[in-house]
Amino acid sequence: MEITANTQALAYLLAAVLFILGLKGLTHPASARRGNLFGMLGMLIAIGATLAGKEVDSYGFIVAGVAIGGVIGAVLAARVQMTAMPQLVAALHSFVGLAAVLVALGTYLNRVESGGLTPVLMGELSAGIVIGAITFSGSVIAFGKLQGILSGAPVVFSGQHLLNALLGLVTVGLAVWFGVNQSLWALVVMTALAFVLGFTLIIPIGGADMPVIISMLNSYSGWAAAATGFTLGNNLLIIVGALVGFSGAILSYIMCRAMNRSILHVVFGGFGGEEGEAPSAMAAAAQKGVKAASVEDAIYWMEDADKVIIVPGYGMAVAQAQHALKELMELLEEKGVEVKFAIHPVAGRMPGHMNVLLAEADIPYDHVFEMDEINPEFATADVALVVGANDVTNPAAKSDPSSPIYGMPILEVGKARHVYVIKRSMRPGYSGVENLLYYQDNCSLIFGDAKEVCEGLVTALKGGGH
Ligand code: TAP
Repeated sequence: MEITANTQALAYLLAAVLFILGLKGLTHPASARRGNLFGMLGMLIAIGATLAGKEVDSYGFIVAGVAIGGVIGAVLAARVQMTAMPQLVAALHSFVGLAAVLVALGTYLNRVESGGLTPVLMGELSAGIVIGAITFSGSVIAFGKLQGILSGAPVVFSGQHLLNALLGLVTVGLAVWFGVNQSLWALVVMTALAFVLGFTLIIPIGGADMPVIISMLNSYSGWAAAATGFTLGNNLLIIVGALVGFSGAILSYIMCRAMNRSILHVVFGGFGGEEGEAPSAMAAAAQKGVKAASVEDAIYWMEDADKVIIVPGYGMAVAQAQHALKELMELLEEKGVEVKFAIHPVAGRMPGHMNVLLAEADIPYDHVFEMDEINPEFATADVALVVGANDVTNPAAKSDPSSPIYGMPILEVGKARHVYVIKRSMRPGYSGVENLLYYQDNCSLIFGDAKEVCEGLVTALKGGGH
């Protein structure tokens, strides 16, 4: 069935409205499921209206592509662990970037034969190729770092910023040359340089700063899609690309504020990477050793507490300890203890990671607090229970200017009367930086898998504690 251009435009408008409602829904956990449904419905309408449009004259390749892509997507979605979500997102961004490059190259080759290479189109093609190529290679590097295939450590060398600036300038120069002369060699070299630029922009980013990069690449993928929309004359792709581009940019800004980083440094690559000498405070703390505690020790203080603040982190996600935490919360509340959850904006491996898991365990939203709200409360908490969180609690971010995480705001758990940290070993967190918290007098470590330890806490509490 072929639909008219007007019907298609109407369907695109409806889809765009649904995408905006979808984004709106995603601003709160309670409406997120509905937001997702709006987004899915919008995408269904968008795909249907595009396939039924007059531009599509044969379905063979499309059906084959949808079948192959659909199977791969379904298998990936079913298999991927929540903890591997950021890598998957990075991989998907790389596909968007590559698609933008391929569409632009295909359009160029098509138009060279059929004519119609206007200056405006040349500009659109250059934008699609440059943004798409940077998104592709940047996302591949981000994928490698997140998956652990590449080292999370920043790769820095002298003259790095100069090299990036030069690459950027030459790429823009070639884009202009290509626009004026329509020469194939300029197109090929520009494409290659943009791929290299994506690579050199991302390699200097250190582990703890990856959240900002993921949201930045998310934004780039949106702009790449928008550029493709201009090339293909597809209004919906322009709208959707702009929505993704802007929402990614806003998220990057929020992340930068959360990490206390400058957005310009992220855009131009290479920040927070300088590894310094270990400070003498760190060496001294390391010699003091850490205190190991048992489940019973923690329960001793928790069941008689007035206030317990639970700080979930990546380890909670790995262990899937959120359901045990819900039970622990309920048991403590039955004993009259006030229980709150403290969420750091970059806890876990993706924005909102902890919120999603706590919501999955039906922990009420009014028990969950953002960093700025909860930080003043640690000083009045009897116990801070840190469940597989590490970097987001590290006081070195405040006290050690040579630390790669220096300047990042943290959850000030060290101010609680007693701090219990659940983790399996003395291994550092994602940033690879040792945590000074563990050497504080009021801090003890309960070594073990977060789920097993939390279940142990529940059992001990049910058993009557002390
Ligand atoms: P991390 O600093 O990565 O620390 C997680 C801790 O969990 C580790 O120390 C680990 O210690 C422990 N752990 C792992 N598996 C465990 C298990 N099964 N049971 C108990 N403990 C376990 O996590 P965080 O505090 O949530 O901080 C997040 C870090 O990731 C930040 O550096 C952030 O910048 C970065 N990051 C965040 C994002 C986003 S958007 N949120 C994206 C990319 C990177 P053991 O190995 O000793 O158990």
